[in-house]
Amino acid sequence: MSGFDFNKRDSFGSRLGVIAAAAGSAVGLGNIWRFPYILGENGGGAFLLVYLIIIFSIGIPVMMSELVIGRRAQRNPVGAFQLLAPRKPWFLVGLMGVVAAFMILAFYTAVAGWTLEYIYQTLIGGFRGKSSEELSAMFDTFRTGSLRPALWFVIFMLATSGIVLGGVRKGIEKSTKIMMPMLFVILIIMCVKSLTLPGAGKGLAFLLQPDFSKITGTTILMALGQAFFSLSIGMGTLITYGSYIQKSNNLANTAVQVSMIDLFVAVLAGVAIFPAVFAFGISPSSGEALTFIVLPGIFQQMTGGMIFALMFFVLLAVAALTSTISVLEVIVAYFTEQLNLSRLAAVILGTISMFILGISASLSWGLMSDVKIFGMNIFTLFNNSTANILLPLGGLLIVVFLGWFFPSKHVRDELSNEGALKVRYYTVYRLVIRFLAPVAIALVFLHGLGLIKF
Ligand code: TRP
Repeated sequence: MSGFDFNKRDSFGSRLGVIAAAAGSAVGLGNIWRFPYILGENGGGAFLLVYLIIIFSIGIPVMMSELVIGRRAQRNPVGAFQLLAPRKPWFLVGLMGVVAAFMILAFYTAVAGWTLEYIYQTLIGGFRGKSSEELSAMFDTFRTGSLRPALWFVIFMLATSGIVLGGVRKGIEKSTKIMMPMLFVILIIMCVKSLTLPGAGKGLAFLLQPDFSKITGTTILMALGQAFFSLSIGMGTLITYGSYIQKSNNLANTAVQVSMIDLFVAVLAGVAIFPAVFAFGISPSSGEALTFIVLPGIFQQMTGGMIFALMFFVLLAVAALTSTISVLEVIVAYFTEQLNLSRLAAVILGTISMFILGISASLSWGLMSDVKIFGMNIFTLFNNSTANILLPLGGLLIVVFLGWFFPSKHVRDELSNEGALKVRYYTVYRLVIRFLAPVAIALVFLHGLGLIKF
């Protein structure tokens, strides 16, 4: 084992701090950038319905399970499994999480860099007076470039590293407590504006009216992947954050609250975007570009739009930052505790390795556009394979571990704070993690990969 002194581990200071940090991890580009475009490509309202079912039946139980593992073990994901299942291969689940962390951070920070470009464009009046086609062309010109996407990536990565270097309480907790509520307010203003555009009803119908004929195996896999991605589950982010949560915290409540905040922000983003998509005649299946074309379009139509644009993109960058720090923290916790590096050395090592992966991801439409793996560019490969493969697989193994291999009494003790809290939901939770969640994830997974057919 390593020589890390586990008595010196940092922790979150308050209940509100825990919610802010965990919701800060969950709420991010996944809600405002990824959710709308994945929903747009996968059947609109039908997708939303499947998504809701997955959040409640699988998402919340998996989140609770990660928090249980983390707080029980007080370790990074690899160390946690080593401690709870000594001399067994379960630590590989943690290791898979660390690998996923690198891949997610690479493409995610690239998108976060796009938000910086849009802050810059707002300041120089870059999208003033542009039509949807022109906004779309502008986005393409930007991302096929070979300098700016990489430059913004580097800047964003350094900001992430700076906060993580500050530590859990002073870096992560403090910054998220201020930034999260601000994002909420501005998103609501955007919704109001979008809903008052001419033709807004069509967009709302697209988002809210399920067309059941559109539900296919792929829809369900995409919804599962999106749910895992958006809740930050399946790779140990919440094992890591769970390990910093105090023993008096009610983990089940925390999981429910964080999931509801996350769901609410995703729906708000949908309400802000789809009415505008239809009002401006943009295709809902415009892919990764969707949010970056639609939102500048809305700002054009608002009085004082540029001020709102500035606030919005700044907060989007901030929401992304509260998520990137949670992913980098997984890597740093792993390096410090398993390899016994100092926090500084761990952050530097993590950051430098991220430069290689992240610059490649950010240049996926520019310099690196010829690099294709399984027919996908690096960005798309990381984006799809983490959300649709690594996270569901990680989630599956996490619930199977707690449901079948770890003593039920310990799980119950952790959820009830050693008997201090009533856990009337425990029987249901246990059934879910033993049967419903593993079976559902496995089926969706195998079907989505084309390995079985219903
Ligand atoms: N959930 C975040 C978002 O929606 C992204 C994120 C942070 C994440 N930590 C994660 C995704 C861990 C998967 C796993 O923006």
